[in-house]
Amino acid sequence: MDVNHKSYPAVRALRDKDEVKILFVCLGNICRSPAAEGILRDIAASQDPDPSRYTIDSAGTGNYHVGDLPDLRMRIHARSRGINLDHRCRQVHESDFRDFDLIVPMDASNERNLHSLCPDPELEDKIVPMSAFFGPAAGYTYVPDPYYEGDSGFELVLDLLADGCCNLYDSIKKS
Ligand code: 4NP
Repeated sequence: MDVNHKSYPAVRALRDKDEVKILFVCLGNICRSPAAEGILRDIAASQDPDPSRYTIDSAGTGNYHVGDLPDLRMRIHARSRGINLDHRCRQVHESDFRDFDLIVPMDASNERNLHSLCPDPELEDKIVPMSAFFGPAAGYTYVPDPYYEGDSGFELVLDLLADGCCNLYDSIKKS
């Protein structure tokens, strides 16, 4: 497994906390980040002795779809893997940088936007890219936007997120 994420202090600090709060971020908050939210929640529910330790949410840097359910195509592809996505789209708020311990953008554009939105430079350490959790076989340095892609784009996103969320969970679970 890639050890990239271990160099992030915000990730290391989570192991010792009784509660961990993670926010996944993409552009629209209808494809990638709600899928990451659903996948990590499913992993915590099935593997952790105390799933209530985790607050897991997602948000978008854009506001085009606020209030919407995730994209139907993403819901169908996730459902075929046993994951229900029922998040309602919301935009990133300044308060998220205080409320969450780890803020995980899907791609470099999301990451840049988060750094611009962050109200306090001391909170920017909380921003850790999803790709930091990819295993060496992933072959990607970001989670590609599937919005204009076909079925294979959605399956690719779910494969990358399944790998990344598994490694993320392993790096923050209590030892
Ligand atoms: P997401 O995908 O960032 O993974 O939710 C997108 C969804 C919608 C749009 C862009 C990206 N859009 O422009 O409407």
